[in-house]
Amino acid sequence: MKLALVGATGMVGEVMLKVLKERNFPIDELLLVASEKSIGKKLEFNGKKYEVIGLAEAVAAKPNIAIFSAGGSTSLEWAPKFAAAGTTVIDNSSAWRMEADKKLIVPEINAHLLTKDDKIIANPNCSTIQLVMALAPLHKKYKMKRVVVSTYQSVSGTGLKAVQQMENEMAGVKGEMAYPYQIHKNALPHCDVFEDNGYTKEEMKLAREPQKILDDSSFSVTATAVRIPTAGGHSEAVNVQFERDFDLADIRRILHETPGIVVQDNPQTNTYPMPIYANDKDDVFVGRIRRDETQQNTLNMWIVSDNLRKGAATNAIQIAEYLVSKDLV
Ligand SMILES: NC(=O)c1ccc[n+]([C@@H]2O[C@H](COP(=O)([O-])OP(=O)(O)OC[C@H]3O[C@@H](n4cnc5c(N)ncnc54)[C@H](OP(=O)(O)O)[C@@H]3O)[C@@H](O)[C@H]2O)c1
Repeated sequence: MKLALVGATGMVGEVMLKVLKERNFPIDELLLVASEKSIGKKLEFNGKKYEVIGLAEAVAAKPNIAIFSAGGSTSLEWAPKFAAAGTTVIDNSSAWRMEADKKLIVPEINAHLLTKDDKIIANPNCSTIQLVMALAPLHKKYKMKRVVVSTYQSVSGTGLKAVQQMENEMAGVKGEMAYPYQIHKNALPHCDVFEDNGYTKEEMKLAREPQKILDDSSFSVTATAVRIPTAGGHSEAVNVQFERDFDLADIRRILHETPGIVVQDNPQTNTYPMPIYANDKDDVFVGRIRRDETQQNTLNMWIVSDNLRKGAATNAIQIAEYLVSKDLV
């Protein structure tokens, strides 16, 4: 297994190295790739130092798998070059997610769709992954009609520059801005860029990606995505209207039995998911499970997950593990 990590020096890249080691992913040769400015820089993996290389050198090495976490424009330009060299690309950016001939994969839900011919595979948006992990098993039984989601997203979701902005603001230091306003002691109803319809791109990812992952356009999702000054872990307040009536105990049972989901839900003991608990964990945490008393067949819940893990690195590595286990690369 020759594995390339494109964007190895970034926030997702760093967690990628950690998760590869934890899960003991089989690697014979590792290529760590970043932009021109990082070529020659040394990174450590499994006690060994690796020199960062550029994209052209990595393509020429013809890796079996390349996991991209280096932004949309790098993916648009380079993923096809890797694919043409026979490499299977797993891409963390939004570049390919909604392309009809590219699969959008959350392994617990739809990895079975993958074949040897899938040379560019898309990893969904971080806030989408945790949402569909909880919605998929409930949809199967009760059939969703409409989902309203409000997100509370951490600065790590934007990358290193945003984390630096928040740290500077907390220390009272002037520095480069990742956001149009201060994030420390603030909340920005603005994740990613605005589209013509007045929604942000992040909100439209939440609206579109779940339908593709669940292969069902009979339900709809509307979203408000908000950036808050937490360091890691995205939270979501989710209101789901189902076609069928449900039993709350059954909803809890289904979520409890779903691999990758942990139910944390006990108002008596103040037990509910929070970013500080989800931090550095692979699971998706669900709590505050309750009936919406204003509308029939409708549920409210609160979902939290580490955006750099299940929202990015872990999901991508699970895809790579699936490809290896099924002999697809
Ligand atoms: N943060 C999250 O929670 C999250 C979740 C899901 C998906 N993603 C996606 O993952 C990607 C990376 O996010 P991040 O948060 O890790 O960002 P980041 O901390 O800003 O890191 C960006 C990485 O991309 C590399 N890069 C940038 N331009 C490049 C180029 N032209 N050629 C080669 N490498 C280049 C950087 O290399 P240098 O160090 O050399 O600049 C760095 O390694 C983005 O596409 C993002 O949308 C992020």
